[in-house]
Amino acid sequence: MSDERRERRIRVRASGSYDVVVGRGLIGRVGELVRDAEAAEGRSLDGTCLVVSDDNVGPLYADAACASLRAAGFDAHDVRMPAGEATKCLARYGELLGAAADAGLTRSGLVVALGGGVIGDLAGFVAATYMRGCRLVQVATSLLAMVDSSVGGKTAIDLPQGKNLAGAFLQPDLVVCDLDALRTLPASFLSDGTGEVVKYGIMCDPELFAWLDAPVMGQEGRVVARCVAIKRDVVEADEREAGERKRLNLGHTVGHAIERCSGYTIPHGHAVAAGCAIMARACAARGLCAGEDAARIVRMIAGHGLPTTTTYGADELYAAALHDKKRVGDGMDVVLVRGVGATEIRRVSLPELREIIEEGL
Ligand SMILES: NC(=O)c1ccc[n+]([C@@H]2O[C@H](COP(=O)([O-])OP(=O)(O)OC[C@H]3O[C@@H](n4cnc5c(N)ncnc54)[C@H](O)[C@@H]3O)[C@@H](O)[C@H]2O)c1
Repeated sequence: MSDERRERRIRVRASGSYDVVVGRGLIGRVGELVRDAEAAEGRSLDGTCLVVSDDNVGPLYADAACASLRAAGFDAHDVRMPAGEATKCLARYGELLGAAADAGLTRSGLVVALGGGVIGDLAGFVAATYMRGCRLVQVATSLLAMVDSSVGGKTAIDLPQGKNLAGAFLQPDLVVCDLDALRTLPASFLSDGTGEVVKYGIMCDPELFAWLDAPVMGQEGRVVARCVAIKRDVVEADEREAGERKRLNLGHTVGHAIERCSGYTIPHGHAVAAGCAIMARACAARGLCAGEDAARIVRMIAGHGLPTTTTYGADELYAAALHDKKRVGDGMDVVLVRGVGATEIRRVSLPELREIIEEGL
């Protein structure tokens, strides 16, 4: 069996312990995977489960997932939401809580989030709060969900005032990454997820960075597994983002500012990629990172068809960055690029942040 066909399991030991299974044909086996995971942990479920997907993922995969869950003895209820970020809202959250109650879910009932990061965050928040918390399984179908949002226990919805403003931590019982699903993921979302993959390489993994001289598809098994392992290490060191987990925000201070300036028309992974390039250039200008490393980072980002800068000016970006959740009084914790695979978390003053943005553009 080629290395790319091998099934990989990454164990996460946080406030809850669980496996992330990375492999092929897994959506059709999700019932058995859930049953085995629950048996291995000595947990018992009440048998009812809410399978939440969206109207792109549902028609492709919900029938297979529900059939597999039913074959494993679950009473699976198929619920589909409109696709897109707008679904991560209070109204849909309320609708899903109602659907959980109508289905007769109890505290030992299961929510299965089948989809990308939007469904993972929304269904995850339902699981975190329904009856003060029930069980959650993440079945990630987008690259971004596989490498980032399905692992680590952050769940959230957006408010009209801003993104991810209401949320909770809930570690899932199991994460399933079915690589076959990436074949139906639209190219724009594949490249968006690649932005986060490149971020992991710059953040701490020169070997992963070197792999990315080739496209992600063709080596998606080892790439997804490596990114999950990196996220696992960070989450295990700092589940609640008191320190080390902030490293995952590389490129995000400027990236979020770009998203905000664009009225969220520039996708997250694209904005983060531009944020990483801007940080790399700024750090090279300040002598914190070798010029050649910054140039390699910028070339890598461009090579994956991702943006390396933005049309927004330093003033606009700075004003937008001040809304960042990572702001602490008159400072901001930013992730500096020290080289390919090397970063440093540093609290900078707001005037310094303004300078960094200007130097990186
Ligand atoms: N919880 C976390 O730690 C965390 C981390 C990063 C991002 N996020 C959140 O993730 C969200 C973005 O996630 P996303 O990029 O996966 O967006 P998404 O969930 O909207 O999925 C992207 C698009 O691809 C479609 N899709 C997904 N899988 C598919 C497949 N296999 N085949 C065909 N179509 C498919 C979806 O229907 C959607 O249209 C944001 O809301 C962001 O805030 C959360």
